[in-house]
Amino acid sequence: MKKLGVLLSGRGSNFEAIARNIADGKLKAEIAVVISNRPEAPGLETARRLGLHAVALPSKGLPREEFDSQVASILDQHNVDLVVLAGYMRLLSGAFVKHFAMRIVNIHPSLLPAFPGLDAQHQAFEYGVKIAGCTAHFVDEHLDSGPIILQAAVAVEEADTAETLSARILKKEHRIYTDAIRLVLSGEWRIEGRRVVSSRMPLR
Ligand code: GRF
Repeated sequence: MKKLGVLLSGRGSNFEAIARNIADGKLKAEIAVVISNRPEAPGLETARRLGLHAVALPSKGLPREEFDSQVASILDQHNVDLVVLAGYMRLLSGAFVKHFAMRIVNIHPSLLPAFPGLDAQHQAFEYGVKIAGCTAHFVDEHLDSGPIILQAAVAVEEADTAETLSARILKKEHRIYTDAIRLVLSGEWRIEGRRVVSSRMPLR
């Protein structure tokens, strides 16, 4: 069974969706460890409730390289195959990205490369886009910039607020993140330039 290492900093709804899909047999994988740089993250509490191995590792005050190397060694101890960022509010050091090259994925609440960074749904709403969405992608050392695995579009409705739009995007995040992880774990993909190419790519 392939092993996931989840990194999170907050609510953890994407992590919870992945855990639920594993429990329901929709994703064949095992969550080996959940690590949070914020000890008070609700996602960490959820991990404990689910009986998963949950580690609080405060990042405050530590140089990035040093903190990341502590995280990497915990992930290595658990023989993690894929690092799953789920609302992890930190940029990764070059050394960490190199150590887990093409073995780190992230979910971002916009159609990248539009609206990278914080509050992407609000950025898109305020900009006035008619189609918003979310992106599952590989992670490199830059912000929200690695090769795209899957995306899903969400139409902006007349009556939307940034909050109602965010809620619909989040539902799609929960769907495509599991699909993206399944695809990556299958190994049935290749990289052509920046393009992730796969005959297994789900149509949507
Ligand atoms: C999600 O919107 C995700 O796209 C972004 O951070 C948020 C995390 O939410 N990277 P949650 O902690 O998974 O509920």
